[in-house]
Amino acid sequence: MNTKSSLAVKHLIAIAAIAVPFIAPPAFASDDAILAEARKVATTLPPKLIVALQDEIKKSGAEAAIPVCKDMAPKMAGEISQQTGWKIKRVSLKARNDARAIPDAWETAALEDFDKRAAAGEAPMKLEKGEKVGDEYRYVKALPVQSLCLNCHGPTEKLSPGIKAALGQHYPNDRATGYSEGQIRGVISVRKKL
Ligand code: HEC
Repeated sequence: MNTKSSLAVKHLIAIAAIAVPFIAPPAFASDDAILAEARKVATTLPPKLIVALQDEIKKSGAEAAIPVCKDMAPKMAGEISQQTGWKIKRVSLKARNDARAIPDAWETAALEDFDKRAAAGEAPMKLEKGEKVGDEYRYVKALPVQSLCLNCHGPTEKLSPGIKAALGQHYPNDRATGYSEGQIRGVISVRKKL
């Protein structure tokens, strides 16, 4: 290589070194876009569920609202999945429904981290995690316990006899009681192939 062309190569390398930081941002921008999309999908369901629970409890009592968390939540999650292409689940370290709500390793790590952070004073509403895992994008958002949830997830001695009986009948392995307000009941977990 003559001096001229090796100089040219040096120049190219120098230009590339300067240019790379300017080329890199789009990758971050698209990460932001997918995080925003995941967050939007994950935040569609919980407010609708809360409204449905409130309405049903007011109208017919807490026991009658069990189908809202039992049947309506998975049905609505299925509909949102169909509309958006994201898989949606609710999982918990103390699952009520063993068939649907047992977290995998990635979700377990996020749930344990959220519990620690909530205990240390972080606002549970804000706890979320999103990242690429293998060929998927995964995102979880904490579902904090509000006073409304205590009807069915509070300390067993405070549950009404009707709720206790219904839960015992449907969920013989129920672990989802004993919560207090502000704790994390579980997460809504969404994932999509990239
Ligand atoms: C009327 C009773 C009732 C109320 C009130 C209620 N839940 Fe539930 N919850 C249930 C039942 C029943 C299930 C099991 C659903 C199933 O079979 O998949 C459940 C399941 C869940 C799950 C899925 C994980 C698991 O353990 O199976 C989450 C998360 C959850 N509830 C969060 C909440 C939150 C947060 C609130 C308050 C905003 C709330 N629930 C209020 C009855 C209730």
